[in-house]
Amino acid sequence: MEKLVINGGKRLSGKVRVSGSKNAALPLMASSILVPGEIHLKNVPHLNDIKTMSKLLSSLGIRIAEDENELILDASNIEDFQAPYEIVKTMRASILVLGPLLAREGKAKVSLPGGCAIGARPVNLHLKGLEKLGVDVKLSHGYIDAKVKRLKGARIHFDISTVTGTENIMMAATYAKGTTILENAALEPEVVELAKALKKMGAKIEGEGTKEMTIEGVDALNPISYTVIPDRIEAGTLMVAAGVTGGEVTLLDANPLHMEVVIEKLKEAGMVIKEENNQINVKAGDKIKSVDVKTAPYPGFPTDMQAQFMVMMCMADNVSVISETIFENRFMHVLELLRMGAKIHIEGNSAIVKGIKALSGAKVMATDLRASASLVLAGLAAEGTTELLRIYHLDRGYERLDQKLSILGADIRREKGGL
Ligand code: EPZ
Repeated sequence: MEKLVINGGKRLSGKVRVSGSKNAALPLMASSILVPGEIHLKNVPHLNDIKTMSKLLSSLGIRIAEDENELILDASNIEDFQAPYEIVKTMRASILVLGPLLAREGKAKVSLPGGCAIGARPVNLHLKGLEKLGVDVKLSHGYIDAKVKRLKGARIHFDISTVTGTENIMMAATYAKGTTILENAALEPEVVELAKALKKMGAKIEGEGTKEMTIEGVDALNPISYTVIPDRIEAGTLMVAAGVTGGEVTLLDANPLHMEVVIEKLKEAGMVIKEENNQINVKAGDKIKSVDVKTAPYPGFPTDMQAQFMVMMCMADNVSVISETIFENRFMHVLELLRMGAKIHIEGNSAIVKGIKALSGAKVMATDLRASASLVLAGLAAEGTTELLRIYHLDRGYERLDQKLSILGADIRREKGGL
């Protein structure tokens, strides 16, 4: 296992490039299953979830060539249609092969993802949508066993806005006979990007980025090349890093249009933020002001930024209330922040954060991807040394975050050892 050792108190400054979006790249990779030819993806981040998706797609018979941050995925021949438990348990986004496999092959055997640190995370809405498209879904021995002769268009209403649920059904519907209408579709930029890529392949999709999408089935989709959008959550994480260290950082290749609520909340917290096309300059304020936040589906405040923002509120001038409405167990970072001296107490799905002067460095444990990012931020701001253990969680979703922070002036190093 590896750990990060951080000596806090260093002010961050300089320029840093935001990597391609993990949550945009993963569905785009899965969509390659739909095309008997080459999909060329650019600006793909180097991180473990991407490697896991590549491994899964290769096991289905897709040939993948990698060059720097580019992937060429050739799904001319699909040789298998199973996503085994061993892979799915390491990355829930594996469920994204279900829709495309049914569209291309008419069958799929995908392990149920099971729960994870942040919540039960059922996939009932994915399965309900597929059944509406005519799929015969059986659950046996922990697997989703799905078959369909020919997908047929349907009107599907999502009781809850689901990102990968919308993506899975959208991909399946591209080959369904007739029209599919998705009601209460997810609006995230990563969903919109998948729709744009599918349209470039020849899919007939309208309404992406709105609550109602219409998909007209087609008989074939064609090879394309597509560039992955910047990762809005990595960008937000780097902005908070500047904010908690009193620094000033310029993010290159960021898209402020995907981060409006995050930017608004960071400005309310006292940061000075200037947006110019694909650059964002962020400067810490003279002090951190307490700001209440409630997570919500896009365009609301993203749940994936909740832990990071909480770290900033730990050093704010008053009390803030941070409410998590998407996942039922996404406060695991609180227990670790308390060990660093934070003053937080949880009431239901809200964390009441009382700002203090400074956190103190400690040995802490990563529990999930965004919690581990928040503990890195806490270590950057804390007095003394922080050791963050189990950083495989971090490496799932951030491309060399420790190196990027080091270039910005952080005293952070990766070491072998730790639990
Ligand atoms: C996506 O997960 C992201 N992952 C998550 O990012 C992100 O936190 C989440 O969307 C919310 O924005 C990827 O895009 C790969 P959901 P997803 O389906 O699609 C409930 C990260 O840190 N639900 O939008 O799994 C669910 O329990 C990861 O990068 C059902 O009840 O999330 C949750 O309460 C973490 N039944 C809510 O909907 C279903 O069938 C939203 O989940 C599906 C979802």
